[in-house]
Amino acid sequence: MKPLRIGKYVAKYPLIQGGMGARISAGNLAGHVAKNGGIGIVAAAGIGMNSGHFNGHNYFEADLEAIKDELRKAYAIAPDGIIGVNVMVALSDYAQLVKASIEAGAKVIICGAGLPMSLPELTAHAPDVALVPIASSVRAAQLIARKWHKAYNRLPDAVVVEDPDTAGGHLGEKMEHIGTGQYDQYATVRGIKEFFRSEFNADIPIIAAGGIWDRADLEHALAEGADGVQMASRFVCTEECDAEDGFKQRYLDCTKEDIGLIMSPAGLPGRAILSNQDNIRQHDLDYGITCNQACLKKCSYKETGERFCIVTALDRAQRGDVETGLVFCGSNAWKADRITTVHEIFEELFGEQKKAAATEELKQAA
Ligand SMILES: Cc1cc2nc3c(=O)[nH]c(=O)nc-3n(C[C@H](O)[C@H](O)[C@H](O)COP(=O)(O)O)c2cc1C
Repeated sequence: MKPLRIGKYVAKYPLIQGGMGARISAGNLAGHVAKNGGIGIVAAAGIGMNSGHFNGHNYFEADLEAIKDELRKAYAIAPDGIIGVNVMVALSDYAQLVKASIEAGAKVIICGAGLPMSLPELTAHAPDVALVPIASSVRAAQLIARKWHKAYNRLPDAVVVEDPDTAGGHLGEKMEHIGTGQYDQYATVRGIKEFFRSEFNADIPIIAAGGIWDRADLEHALAEGADGVQMASRFVCTEECDAEDGFKQRYLDCTKEDIGLIMSPAGLPGRAILSNQDNIRQHDLDYGITCNQACLKKCSYKETGERFCIVTALDRAQRGDVETGLVFCGSNAWKADRITTVHEIFEELFGEQKKAAATEELKQAA
């Protein structure tokens, strides 16, 4: 397995830890992933809520303070590591979070939940920061790349291809197209790779995301043409994951049948543990929760009171209230059977490779 080069940065292992919003992946998880040789990602969505900066009235200020804090924490764990952020385009404070992340030293910015058409403009003052859009189709990658090339003379430093049939959280596909068997993850990976080759003569790393759990999945992804993988759900049941224990326990307890699709107030489908769906809306009705912060540019709860407040639902789950909180997860979350460590996961995924490298070093020293 080759190292993963993204822009100016080279990760020892071809693995990005997927951003998980509302502090599921904050500084601790991202720092430990980077320390172990992967790319650690702090998710920006809802990062301020349980940060100590939020006083009930300063949602956006708290977000900016919190993202900087979490990047600092991650760098304290892995001073030379590759640490980045995931900022959803759908967030109201998307541009501010991108800028604050750069200020705090993010090396990689990954953007999904919308097309990050003007990301190079927002980051023009920091050309070394690697820019990575998430796309679920060749068409989405083409739209972004052509715009970036024409308007900013820049191409993505990598593209994450997220499989709507397996990935956790918000999904970049219409509800009725998910799970039909029509989506071909690796045809999309190869299609995007080929598009960059033929149109720009560029070898852009394409990263497969969704449903990658163990070494066999990783090897399959690389054999099918991906340059690396992005894994999120696998990192939830680790000591280092920033969620409270109750959130991790819900992964340990869930069955395959508990996992399914919801329609998010953000207007996108999402994959989550479904068994408490009624409680989520009921909680908002019982407590008269209204939209205080307008955290999303577009949200049915903000506009019409339809569904539920997603950021507070994700935040409750992160704090361990899995009765009324929304537990996002990928389709393989039911496979979690114990709390492990980030190091153990890296050993499992790359252990033999590590041993081979050590033997080679010994041979050369002899
Ligand atoms: C709990 C959870 C929260 C997530 N939050 C985000 C997010 O804030 N932004 C984003 O782009 N993707 C988010 N994702 C998607 C992941 O980054 C990742 O691409 C996807 O889950 C990969 O599939 P896997 O979980 O099967 O590995 C989230 C996933 C999970 C499980």
